[in-house]
Amino acid sequence: MDTQNLYNTIFKRKSVRKYDLTPLPEADLSKVSEHIQALKTLIPGVRSKIDILSSREIKNLTPVKAPHYLVFFSEEKDGFLTNAGFILQQMDLFLSSNGIGSCWIGMAKPQREILKKSELDFVIMLAFGKPKEPIYRKDIWEFKRKPLEEITNISGSNELLEPVRLAPSATNSQPWYFIGEDNKIHVYCIKAKALKSVLYEKVNKIDMGIALCHLWIAAEYFQKNMDIIYDDPARKAIPAGYFYIATVIIEQ
Ligand SMILES: Cc1cc2nc3c(=O)[nH]c(=O)nc-3n(C[C@H](O)[C@H](O)[C@H](O)COP(=O)(O)O)c2cc1C
Repeated sequence: MDTQNLYNTIFKRKSVRKYDLTPLPEADLSKVSEHIQALKTLIPGVRSKIDILSSREIKNLTPVKAPHYLVFFSEEKDGFLTNAGFILQQMDLFLSSNGIGSCWIGMAKPQREILKKSELDFVIMLAFGKPKEPIYRKDIWEFKRKPLEEITNISGSNELLEPVRLAPSATNSQPWYFIGEDNKIHVYCIKAKALKSVLYEKVNKIDMGIALCHLWIAAEYFQKNMDIIYDDPARKAIPAGYFYIATVIIEQ
């Protein structure tokens, strides 16, 4: 995988919500299919698949209408939502780096026959196609994101955490917080308020996978190895209002 290209895309990508509804050329769709085979998983024990579906195979409740959708299915094991975010964000960056527009869509699902046929459960999807609006930001200041100080108390890991700061999230909620030491980053997610909790907890866990995807791509770019562990002390020292996701070990 060309992680250098994906890394550069992190600093300019944006959600695309206007598409030319003409299907992409076969050659482009083949390139997308091939790339699906090359994706890295976060939690190897969780079975999943990505299908490319057309607009008529999707019940889309949002105004974002696209010719194609990358639809993520998974078995519902521990960590499957974070795994889905991690895997599908690689596609978001791949599409953007190839001039194809994309947008995460939380408010859509495949048609009933497709759901019935699938052995794995539907999780989330990405709309994609030929963009009818600019797909890149011209400047980093165009990202509406929290400053680094609001998402971490770690100083000195900016090269890894700045790409994470720019990650997309549902309703741009940026639910992440990072605490740590050199080379050991504990990852936490905000607890949704009771009323919103069912819906938000699902998308927030996907968001956390997206953030971990940006962290992994940054680590690759700086030629560092990244390992995910579940660390007992970090589980016990959870900041108020958050829950624990994982600990990332960065090796030089
Ligand atoms: C899990 C998830 C679900 C999302 N669902 C929708 C959606 O249903 N409709 C939409 O227009 N945007 C959706 N988005 C896009 C976010 O609103 C967008 O990523 C965020 O506002 C940041 O903007 P950016 O992607 O342009 O950087 C979703 C994003 C994520 C990560």
